Amino acid sequence: MASITIRNLEPEIKEALRKRAASNGRSMEEEARHYFAQMAAGPSLLAPAPAPAPISVSDPSPQTLAGKRICLIIGGGIAAYKCLDLIRRLRERGASVRPVMTKAATEFVTELSIGAIANDTVFTELFDRNAEHDVGHIRLSREADLIVVAPATADLMGKMSNGLANDLASTVLMATDKPVLIAPAMNPKMWEHPATKRNRKTLQNDGIHFNGPRAGEMAESGEAGFGRMAEPLEIVGAIEQLLDTRPKPLAGKKIIMTSGPTHEPIDPVRYIANRSSGKQGYAIATALADLGADVYLVSGPTSLSKPQNVKTIDVETAREMYDAVHQLLPADAAIFVAAVADYRAATEADEKIKKEKGGINAIALTENPDILASIGNHEAKRPQLVIGFAAETQNLIKHGASKLKRKGADYIVANDVSPDTGIGGKTGVMGGDRNRVTLISKKKNDAWPEMTKQQVAHELAQLVAQHLVTVKV
Ligand SMILES: Cc1cc2nc3c(=O)[nH]c(=O)nc-3n(C[C@H](O)[C@H](O)[C@H](O)COP(=O)(O)O)c2cc1C
Repeated sequence: MASITIRNLEPEIKEALRKRAASNGRSMEEEARHYFAQMAAGPSLLAPAPAPAPISVSDPSPQTLAGKRICLIIGGGIAAYKCLDLIRRLRERGASVRPVMTKAATEFVTELSIGAIANDTVFTELFDRNAEHDVGHIRLSREADLIVVAPATADLMGKMSNGLANDLASTVLMATDKPVLIAPAMNPKMWEHPATKRNRKTLQNDGIHFNGPRAGEMAESGEAGFGRMAEPLEIVGAIEQLLDTRPKPLAGKKIIMTSGPTHEPIDPVRYIANRSSGKQGYAIATALADLGADVYLVSGPTSLSKPQNVKTIDVETAREMYDAVHQLLPADAAIFVAAVADYRAATEADEKIKKEKGGINAIALTENPDILASIGNHEAKRPQLVIGFAAETQNLIKHGASKLKRKGADYIVANDVSPDTGIGGKTGVMGGDRNRVTLISKKKNDAWPEMTKQQVAHELAQLVAQHLVTVKV
């Protein structure tokens, strides 16, 4: 595909593109590609960016980092300018930020602006007699709850992985006993260089946490690829996760989930399956666990790694999934994301069916149990909240609304999984990383804008929290 040079666009178009990209969580180049792909059907680029997803139970700037001390090491890359925003975001969440700048960083942003936004002294020199008497590199490295390196240059990563300590930043990093989070930013060729690859591996083995880089257009060179620094809010999210400071409104709530496809055996080596990857369900399980829920994920076969802080129960068939879900009752909520096969082979051959003996001309099918309906209409143990997913390729709302009624669900999350939606690239929604869903309830249909599966998961987790958490006045 030809590359898109954002810098050559008219300023007005560029600004509109920037707003749309920010609201959709994409880079400007990704947004442009997406826009051109959707131009025939989509809104004008100059129209206002789509409204953000409607659900949010949390305060816009909750004090998630109250009392936390962050030592922010700023490296010498173009992305250093993003640190001004990063510091602001950290401080509005209650953190204090102590900035350390490399000599190269001071070429990109001034100590004056960093110090003013951080409301603290900026430390730059290792051999500064006054600073060493006053705070010193050891105190800088220890009197923090977390050290963040942003942007982490190729040079800083090289120093860290080789144990070099020849300036203040690298010495602080060597002397610390606190967790370290780095947000790399560099030219894509630098990121892919064998030396950087080696350093990345070493740093990962050393327990250094990474956030980014992201793919997109490089500010300075017009090149594109992996190397853009993560956006400040993403870094803030990673910091909150590392320090485990996010509110846990779902603590003590048990949630059963299903995800992935099912495999329905025909004989010992063949099965009926579908294209579900499990990505959306795994993202929801993670988002619910992040809010403190006790999540039980009954998962069909997928190639994904198990989500953290989630109890995963591996199953293969629809019947195994049904049994596992029923054994897990009672629960506060149940969310059914799995693409369960409606039918299975009526009989499963004990041995591999041989071609010479007539082979397989037709497979007699029998219906699988309906997991969502069995829980949505459960007389004794129906969870307080039941949500089902509907994967449709046509008449999304009609089919979703009918499913809501038949299956006794509180919500149906309907997603159009036909490959021609343009969502999720070649793989479509099933297997892709993005989704566009409509939330169907008895009261209304809410069409959410297209977003990543993680963002859908986050919004859905907020919705679950709204339902399960009753505020006592
Ligand atoms: C205009 C310009 C932009 C640069 N951008 C980056 C960058 O994004 N990432 C990076 O690793 N190095 C970048 N460099 C190179 C670093 O500034 C250089 O390696 C420096 O020694 C890094 O020092 P530090 O790691 O102590 O901050 C850039 C250099 C220039 C002149």
